[in-house]
Amino acid sequence: MIGKRGRAARVRYGLGAALGVMSMTGIALAQDAGGDAALVARGSYLATAADCAACHTAPHGGKPFAGGYGIASPLGSIYASNITPSKVAGIGNYTEAQFSRAVREGIRGDGAHLYPAMPYTSYAKLTDQDIHALYAYFTHEVRPVDERAPVTQLPFPFNLRFSMMFWNALYLDNSRFAPDPSKSAEVNRGAYLAIALGHCDTCHTPRNVMMAEIGGKELGGASLGSWIAPNVTPDPVSGIGNWSSDDLFRYLKTGDVPGKAQAAGPMAEAIEHSFQHLTDDDLKAIVAYVRQVPAIRDGADSRPRDSFGVASGREAVIRGAPGTLDNGEKLFSGDCAACHQPGGQGSKDAYYPQLFHNAAVGASTPDNLIATILEGVDRTVGGQHVFMPGFSRGSYVDELSDQDVADVGNYVLTQFGNPAVKISAADVASIRHGGPKPLLARVGGYIVPAMVGAAIVLLALIGLVVARRRKA
Ligand code: HEC
Ligand code: HEC
Ligand code: HEC
Repeated sequence: MIGKRGRAARVRYGLGAALGVMSMTGIALAQDAGGDAALVARGSYLATAADCAACHTAPHGGKPFAGGYGIASPLGSIYASNITPSKVAGIGNYTEAQFSRAVREGIRGDGAHLYPAMPYTSYAKLTDQDIHALYAYFTHEVRPVDERAPVTQLPFPFNLRFSMMFWNALYLDNSRFAPDPSKSAEVNRGAYLAIALGHCDTCHTPRNVMMAEIGGKELGGASLGSWIAPNVTPDPVSGIGNWSSDDLFRYLKTGDVPGKAQAAGPMAEAIEHSFQHLTDDDLKAIVAYVRQVPAIRDGADSRPRDSFGVASGREAVIRGAPGTLDNGEKLFSGDCAACHQPGGQGSKDAYYPQLFHNAAVGASTPDNLIATILEGVDRTVGGQHVFMPGFSRGSYVDELSDQDVADVGNYVLTQFGNPAVKISAADVASIRHGGPKPLLARVGGYIVPAMVGAAIVLLALIGLVVARRRKA
């Protein structure tokens, strides 16, 4: 295995040199990058595009990249490392080769395996040039912080970091991004941004039982716990084939396309911290890429999720189940109508969005509607704060019970959305406790099964060795 890696590295660096891209050791780089402001700026942009800060900066005023953020998992917290250039607490002693191995192969400077809470399976696609720029940025611009991040301590067998080797052997595709010559330069650029850096696929592509992405299902939609990252393939019924390129561009830049969809939860965070800061050309490239992935149709869908509903009459009274509706309607007028209006048409300036022709309300699963009611919307884009209060425990507006959320949700569904979808109190309870908080939903969802998988393989191997010894 080491031999293979060594060869791959040689080929890579050989190619890099052939292209005139300097391959160099950390020492050579230090002299080089110091004078190369453009390289450092490029690294800074890449760190934003890849959203390194999402995990490596603790929320509520944590020092940039000093780590300390605990990714909650049922096995215990996994702490993101301090990746400032501190020599005592961070990665100040990392050479570029060590940095590259950590980011693209999940192997720390001291040789230990990282847990896949660090998304190295995505970053494996990063080019050498981009790793070089990231390294320059982290060593020359990020300010060193000499405070150690908390140490991750998981119970046996998950504390055996080398067990990740087995999962890696199966699922880490350690090959760099390769442009598809049959596609335009723009589509290839978009694919690189979407997969290696923006990693749309980590959220929107479904995973198998070992939590590796399922081939052929790219961007076909996946549950992240409380939220669903919908099907965004170009299928006109199940995906976003009815969106224009401008709609998709606008969504990624602002999170709001009136009459179609708004971004809350993990998507809002990705837009706020990463996508809104990309150049327009890069966003257009992502759009070009997303619009040409193979369309995926779900037989259960009959029409696009943003095509349901009209401004309300009293239709719901006829369609809805009596009894539940009363409470739902009452809650709607008390808790929602002030902003979304009694007829669901939102405010004139569309700051408060309309609820008909709204993807969260027309989807064939109610998860995102429930999650929105519980958690609200909180997104700062282009200096504007978009805010809807949540109605879960601790809400300063109104604490709704599971049954209340189901009732008001059902009212919204029958009145403005997909009337075939029904919400039960149990659905709400499950979303309420539905796993990870938005910020890290994308890793929380798969880290644990991945580690369980690796641990099972490890225990099976230990079992085999023990069995053999007994025989002998
Ligand atoms: C989704 C969360 C997440 C994102 C995004 C992320 N990381 Fe990490 N990273 C982690 C976690 C968690 C660890 C520690 C894992 C462990 O202890 O096994 C880690 C570890 C590392 C390490 C190893 C440092 C050490 O010595 O322990 C490096 C280097 C690193 N990350 C760099 C980066 C860079 C560069 C980016 C952006 C390109 C990035 N990370 C983005 C979660 C993340
Ligand atoms: C951290 C997880 C995450 C990442 C990364 C992510 N998405 Fe999303 N995305 C979501 C979730 C969750 C929603 C649903 C948001 C809502 O309804 O408020 C969503 C919604 C969307 C929608 C709206 C679809 C609809 O009908 O409502 C589009 C389009 C979209 N994402 C495209 C992308 C693209 C393109 C990328 C990569 C550049 C991307 N997303 C990256 C989680 C993510
Ligand atoms: C204080 C004003 C306010 C109240 C009260 C309010 N909302 Fe909202 N709502 C908003 C704002 C602001 C947005 C996000 C707009 C954007 O993203 O551009 C939003 C978005 C939504 C969305 C779309 C979310 C998505 O992910 O696509 C739904 C659905 C929704 N609200 C339903 C409700 C329901 C149901 C209630 C009552 C339980 C409610 N809202 C109460 C202001 C409000």
